[in-house]
Amino acid sequence: MKIKRILKWSVIVIVLALLVWFQIAYWTSTNDYDRQTAAPNHPMKAIVYSDYGLSNLKLENIEKPVPNDDQILVKVRAASINPYDWHFVEGTPYIMRMMGVGLRKPKDIQLGVDFAGTVEAVGKNVTQFKPGDDVFGGRGGAFAEYVCRRAEGAVALKPANLTFEQAASVNIAGITALQALRDKGKVQPGQKVLINGASGGVGTFAVQIAKSFGADVTGVCSTRNVDLVRSLGADHVIDYTKEDFAKSGRRYDVILDNVPNHSLSDCRGVLTPQGKYVMIGGGGPNDSRWVGPFGRVIKTMVMSPFISQQMGMMMADTSQKDLTILADMMQSGKVKPVIDRTYKLSEVPAAIAYLEEGHARGKVVITVE
Ligand SMILES: NC(=O)c1ccc[n+]([C@@H]2O[C@H](COP(=O)([O-])OP(=O)(O)OC[C@H]3O[C@@H](n4cnc5c(N)ncnc54)[C@H](OP(=O)(O)O)[C@@H]3O)[C@@H](O)[C@H]2O)c1
Repeated sequence: MKIKRILKWSVIVIVLALLVWFQIAYWTSTNDYDRQTAAPNHPMKAIVYSDYGLSNLKLENIEKPVPNDDQILVKVRAASINPYDWHFVEGTPYIMRMMGVGLRKPKDIQLGVDFAGTVEAVGKNVTQFKPGDDVFGGRGGAFAEYVCRRAEGAVALKPANLTFEQAASVNIAGITALQALRDKGKVQPGQKVLINGASGGVGTFAVQIAKSFGADVTGVCSTRNVDLVRSLGADHVIDYTKEDFAKSGRRYDVILDNVPNHSLSDCRGVLTPQGKYVMIGGGGPNDSRWVGPFGRVIKTMVMSPFISQQMGMMMADTSQKDLTILADMMQSGKVKPVIDRTYKLSEVPAAIAYLEEGHARGKVVITVE
């Protein structure tokens, strides 16, 4: 009896301590925006946000970054929007906030990742880039006039046949499509590959990359995008407003799921016995606001030991190596970025709001003047 009482009170004390800790952490959660006092000495324009929510995004002058010995300073000419950006703007799924993004306010006040631009300066240890080189890649804070990036990180020379806008659209979407098909899906020539969400940022790259691997590609999109997806090389296009791929009776060796709008058992039903289901998408801003795709990830982990197919989520890992592979594919014309709309830097909130609707055709790009 005594042990039971001790245990009961221990649990109550731990829960109360956690609640107090959470309250303190929540209300003391702050960021550089709150600490900013003086005007910047070397100003540059950048999109910043002091609190979560699209209405809190502002175009302001902040201090221009200075490259360290291993970095390059890039004058950004274009950037692109990804669902990743609205996750940070909204602070959803909320679990992200507990994983270091900032409980009440975003810790990092800058936004954007994908960029293309011209190298303005290099650190003393940098050998692979020089001032004047046109480059593209990824770096937090890309919705700005300048970014600093470690020269050995996710940055590569821009193929000459691409505009800055096209090059800026590649980093997250192109690498995600490449790694999902090559590393997780292990796509082989002649295999049947289904891409659900074939007309979006990742999907438009994925259709072209799967074709370049020699696959027989089926793209799923709505009526207005059928011609686009076919023009990217898809052998078959399923208009989801007219046909449900999960009920088609056809089987696929690999499914790349950008839009997890079918149950896992439905997806399994159209996979070959040794097929691979690669989930990358986590839904829109109003889907599963607490845990996002993680609930579905846990389901795939629970199912895995009992089924012959491989099912799981993939998180892209951006790198110079894969950007260079994509650069070669674009240089040779195997892959061409698809751009839906272009906005100005001051219009980033409108661009993110458009992407949040979930019906972009290819990539949404920001031009930085
Ligand atoms: N795991 C990772 O590392 C990683 C990396 C990048 C992206 N992602 C995730 O992957 C997902 C896709 O990213 P994205 O950049 O491609 O997003 P996106 O550009 O916003 O995708 C929009 C596309 O989704 C299509 N779509 C909407 N509802 C559909 C449905 N019911 N069936 C088929 N297609 C549908 C739309 O086509 P219609 O207009 O024809 O409906 C539109 O073309 C997002 O959830 C994103 O967060 C994950």
